[in-house]
Amino acid sequence: MTVDQRIVVLGSGVVGLSAALALAQKGYRVHVLARDLPEDTYSQGFSSPWAGANWTPFMSREEGPRQAKWEEITFKKWQQLVPSGLAMVLKDTRRFAQTEQGLLGHWYKNVTPNYRPLPASECPPGAVGVTYDTLSVHAAQYCMYLAREAQKLGVTFERKSVLSIDEAFEGDAALVVNATGLGAKSIAGVEDPDVEPVRGQTVLVKSSCKRCTMDSSDYTTPAYIIPRPGGEVICGGTYMTGNWDLSPSPSTATRILEQCLRLDRSISSDGTLAGIEVVRHNVGLRPGRKGGARLEAEKITLPLVRGRGDKAQLALGLGKSGAGKGEPREVTVVHAYGFLGAGYQQSWGAALEVLELVEREVGAPKGWASKAKL
Ligand code: FAD
Ligand code: LAC
Repeated sequence: MTVDQRIVVLGSGVVGLSAALALAQKGYRVHVLARDLPEDTYSQGFSSPWAGANWTPFMSREEGPRQAKWEEITFKKWQQLVPSGLAMVLKDTRRFAQTEQGLLGHWYKNVTPNYRPLPASECPPGAVGVTYDTLSVHAAQYCMYLAREAQKLGVTFERKSVLSIDEAFEGDAALVVNATGLGAKSIAGVEDPDVEPVRGQTVLVKSSCKRCTMDSSDYTTPAYIIPRPGGEVICGGTYMTGNWDLSPSPSTATRILEQCLRLDRSISSDGTLAGIEVVRHNVGLRPGRKGGARLEAEKITLPLVRGRGDKAQLALGLGKSGAGKGEPREVTVVHAYGFLGAGYQQSWGAALEVLELVEREVGAPKGWASKAKL
């Protein structure tokens, strides 16, 4: 990597922002390109504004050792943010079907304070449960915080929608980090057929409740209450795979609120549905991926060639700066997408792994001196 080359991060959701910050802290020159930026807090074009965003492992360490590592690292990072008010401590109670033993996740009993399996008497018939102290962040505010910290270290931001990965290499990019979430399904040169939306409908409610309660003992009607800094709770939810519908369904909203009220009456001023102060009805699309998140380096040759899909052909005709034209050159993309319902809780651990991959691919930044503690 030459001194003037920079790392381009494509995507400005929580994963792209965390990666940009980790890279800048190491001393890389970083430019973020994205269609949706952190200030677009009402855009349904990306997942990050709509998250809970709490820390709740979904896999056992055996099922997802990398995910568990990312989650443990992120939990520790968020613990440091509690005094600033960016992260908030919550008492979490989870119940789920007995078949979902992986969710018991005993691996985190030494990570989350006050971890304790629930006795059968505190669970619905056929369900199991666990309680522990966890953390949440305010999704939009947390993304703005990451962006501000990155900007302080010289990271630049540009709004740009790309059709093809080669557009991200225009100019002086040494490497591109692809953190495009669902965008990875359609961007030419990536076109990952395993990427799929998992629709999540929620209701944002004004409440000072500090207890997080999650019940997926019946998977057809999951329910959760996730408090976040600022006196609001997010009531959810749905997990609808393959569904791109961005409109909230009124009947689903009623089902969610009725169930959440049963989980914790304190979300209502008088214990009834009418006493719940609704702020907004929301729908966000989680960036799902069959086989789990993709975090790996891939070498590709530019210009893109026939065979990677029709969009690659289209992109060839659209390249402006020559990145898509001329002599073939090999470049590296570090992919970081497909984090489904866990992009926040895995974000900092994933970002540190992106940093490792970037360093392995292009070497340490020239004359780097760690600008901040990782
Ligand atoms: P995104 O936030 O989708 O960002 C993708 C970025 O890529 C955007 O900037 C977008 O504009 C850009 N992009 C895409 N295509 C292009 C293109 N062609 N050109 C240029 N830019 C492009 N996670 C948790 O950890 N805890 C939770 O409690 C939690 N709760 C959730 C609740 C709901 C209802 C939902 C919907 C999600 C929840 N999640 C939660 C999941 C979390 O929101 C996602 O995993 C996370 O936001 C994914 O971040 P990302 O940066 O990978 O993708
Ligand atoms: C979700 C949270 C609970 O995906 O992770 O809805």
